[in-house]
Formats: sequence, structure tokens, C-alpha cells
Amino acid sequence: MTQTTTGTRAFGHYIDGEWGNPESGPTFDTTNPATGAPVATYTRGTAADVNAAVAAAKAAFARWRLVPAPKRGEILYRVGQLLATRKEALAREMTEEMGKVLVEARGDVQEGIDMAFYMGGEGRRMFGQQVPAELPNKWAMAVRKPLGVCSMITPWNFPLAIPTWKIMPALVAGNTVVFKPATLTPLLAVRLVEVFEEAGLPPGVLNLVLGTGGEVGDAILAHPDIALVSFTGSTATGDHVAMEAARTRKRVSLELGGKNAIIVLDDADLDLALDGIVWSAFGTSGQRCTAASRVIVHRSVERALTDRLAERVGKLRLGDGLQEGVEIGPVISRSQLERINSYMAIGRQEGAELVIGGAIVSDGNFARGHFHQPTIFGGAKASMRIAQEEIFGPVTTIIPVDSFEEAIDAANGVQYGLSAAIYTADVNRAFRAMQDIDTGILYVNAGTIGAEIQLPFGGTKATGNGHREAGQAALDVVTEWQSIYVDYSGQLQRAQIDTDKE
Ligand code: UN1
Repeated sequence: MTQTTTGTRAFGHYIDGEWGNPESGPTFDTTNPATGAPVATYTRGTAADVNAAVAAAKAAFARWRLVPAPKRGEILYRVGQLLATRKEALAREMTEEMGKVLVEARGDVQEGIDMAFYMGGEGRRMFGQQVPAELPNKWAMAVRKPLGVCSMITPWNFPLAIPTWKIMPALVAGNTVVFKPATLTPLLAVRLVEVFEEAGLPPGVLNLVLGTGGEVGDAILAHPDIALVSFTGSTATGDHVAMEAARTRKRVSLELGGKNAIIVLDDADLDLALDGIVWSAFGTSGQRCTAASRVIVHRSVERALTDRLAERVGKLRLGDGLQEGVEIGPVISRSQLERINSYMAIGRQEGAELVIGGAIVSDGNFARGHFHQPTIFGGAKASMRIAQEEIFGPVTTIIPVDSFEEAIDAANGVQYGLSAAIYTADVNRAFRAMQDIDTGILYVNAGTIGAEIQLPFGGTKATGNGHREAGQAALDVVTEWQSIYVDYSGQLQRAQIDTDKE
């Protein structure tokens, strides 16, 4: 178990099955984004800690890769059971450090539980390929092999779910892991590692190094014994990860930004679309990669949609996510709050209509937190910065269009390609949207958030580099194929040459 000091919680790294002393060097702190109250203190790691973690992971790999995959999967089942038992406590701690409202924090934990059972099952599946050989008395097949030491660098917006997306497929496939969570939210990372320890994961198989991107992150990128870096975060940081990791020829899996659109056509069920927009744009205070930060609407329903959306958003209850009835929590930090707020002036200067919101909330109970009013810009053009750049806050922009074709062009007319949605009653248009929208995830008559873990998650263009998390696709990131030929003819048989032999 982790060490804690009295009063406030303090946590160290977890390397080779040992929890480090949190007070043995420099530290960093986290605070509750709703109240400003201190949450916990963590060791601030260095390159030396990364070296120790990689050495432990490398040594553990020699044994772990030979543990039968069904046994590795059984540990994931136990992790899933423990997470389920602790769901409420974990969700509360998540809200305390990250700020998302409790009902969503529970969803984040549930996503981790789902992943544990799904990937646990891969221990008895992990399908390979078996194909006919072109020569007699010869066998041809391909099997998945682990890569070795995998590093996982995770963001603050899904403090439990995203680490499970990365770690669980890696472990069931026989890899060992060095895990660096975001400095703003390490608490659930610590809790997840505690659960793995309790579930019986051998020492060295999963190592946690706490600290900054500049210190721990860059040491990971430079380390020659790491085979993979899997990163979720901003596109700018993702580019840095890819370029640095290339020096040691690491495999790189990136999950980056989004500027996800909901298209509302003239024949859409407006009530349904409104529910989807409110949930997708303002859930998690807009701090999801999948958040609906654009609403592309047919001009004939623009006014009705804008007015009704403003009415709905005006009633949303902002506050501390631990309090009953609160629908929108704070944003993660002061700097994010200011960054989000800077788009208010940008949108107005560009000539968009500020329909509702637009300001930081800092009076009374809100004074010590990072709260931003849920905000809608209306009457915007698809080319405006507020309609092009990822804001990652409770802000969405309504873009009127005159046709289905214009809607599709606007949806595709951004650098990102993560998620999109279309509301229509016309099955033909729904199928054309499925054909023509260039995103990794697409919803018909549902909002842009809420992907399930059994399908691939990820996006096109600047959203990533061609990889997917979750589902079967996650195994492609963490394994190599080994093609194996077994010749049981007892003779030399030359492929491509001796093929007309009996
Ligand atoms: C993210 O924002 O990076 O689809 C992940 C969703 C969630 C995961 C979001 N299941 O919104």
C-alpha cells in the first residue's frame, strides 16, 4: 500500500513493486479545481526514476511475457472486480482532484471496469491468423507477440479510463509498463496501481513515475529500452512526442485534439438534438477530446435551435461536482480557465454572436475555483477561429449552413477528425454522412461523446497518427505479428518455386 502522511495525502513512485517515500525529494501538489483546497502531494520524478522504472520493467518482461495470457487476463478480472467494489470512493476522489461532476466521474471509473473485463477476456482470445500454406505438409500462422517495455503518458481529463485503455491491452498482451499520469491528476493513477498490486500483478510489470512532461516525459521519450510510447493530449505535445520518440525508433500511438461537430438537418428531431448538444458540448465542462464544440445547423432551424439551446444552457447548474444537482463543474486549472476565456474576445472580434455565457464566474462560492459560464456563440462562420481551434472548455459555436453538402464540408473543414454526429430522420442522408464524414467516430441521432470500449477509439488527420485505442484495435498498438511456418514434410520445399509438386 502507498505511504501517506498525516493531514494531507502524499504519494511516491511505484517501481519494481515498491512504493517510494514521497518525502525523499522535490514534490508537487494538486488542488481541488472547484474549491482550491489541497488534494495531495506527489514526488516529482527525474530521469533517474525513469531509468529505474525502465530497468524494472525490462527485467520483469523476461518473466511476464511467458505467463500464459489467460493468467494475465485473470489479473485484469480481479482489477475489474476491485474497481467495481471501490467505484464510489474512486469517483469521489476523481471529482475532488479533476472536477468533473460525480455522475461523470462514476462513468469514468465504469469505463475502466469495462476495459478490465473486456481486455481480461483477450487473455483467452487474442486471435491470431492461421492460413493455408502453398506447399504440402506445411503449416502457416501468425501470432501476436508483446513489444517489451511500453510507456503510457496520460491526460488529466479521464484520470482513470484513459490509463486503463492504455495499460490493460499492453499487460494482457505480455508487455510491461512505465506509466506517467498528468501532473494535474495523479491520484486515480495511484489508486489504479494500488488495485493492480492488490490483484496480484508481479513486481516490475507496472511501474508508476510521477512528475512533469519536461522531466519524466522527456526522459521516457529518450530512453532506448522503451519500445512504445502511447500518448493522449494536445496536438502540439503529440508532435513533440512523435519527433523525440523517432530518435530511438519507438512505436508511437497518439490520441490528440478534436473539433467535433454535431450536424442538425432541417428534418431532425430538435428535442433529441438539443439533448445531444447540451450533453456533448457541456458534459465534463467541454473538456473531452470528443466534446461537441461546433453545431452545424440548417438555416431553416437555426433560430429555433439557438433560442432553445440558450434556454437550456441558461438553466444548467454550475458548481462543485461533489454537490447534488450540479451539472457543470469547474475547468481543470487557472491557466485553462484563462485560455478558454481568451476565446470570448476572439469570437466577438470575429463577428460571432455571443448567445449566452462568455464570462469567468468568480463571485461568492466560486471565488476559489476555476469556473467558466457555459457559452454559446451563434451565427458563426466555419472558418472562424472559434470554429476551428480546440477550446477544451464549456463553449460551443453554432454555424448555420444552407444544405446537406455544405454541412458535410463544414464538418470536414477542420484539421482534426475525432468524432462527429448527425441528426436527421432521412436514412439516405445518414448513410451519406457515414460515407463522407472524415472522422474516426461517427454518431447518427446521438451526440459526439460516449464511445464504448469495445470499438476502436481515435481519429483521423491531426487527431492522431493512425492508431486506435480500445476494442480489438488496441492490440495492434501493443503487439508485433510473428508469422510462423512449420514444414513437416521432412524435405526442402521452396516457396514460390516448388509449388506444382504433388
Ligand atoms: C477523451 O475525451 O479523451 O467517448 C476520452 C467519450 C469517452 C471518452 C473520451 N468515452 O466521450
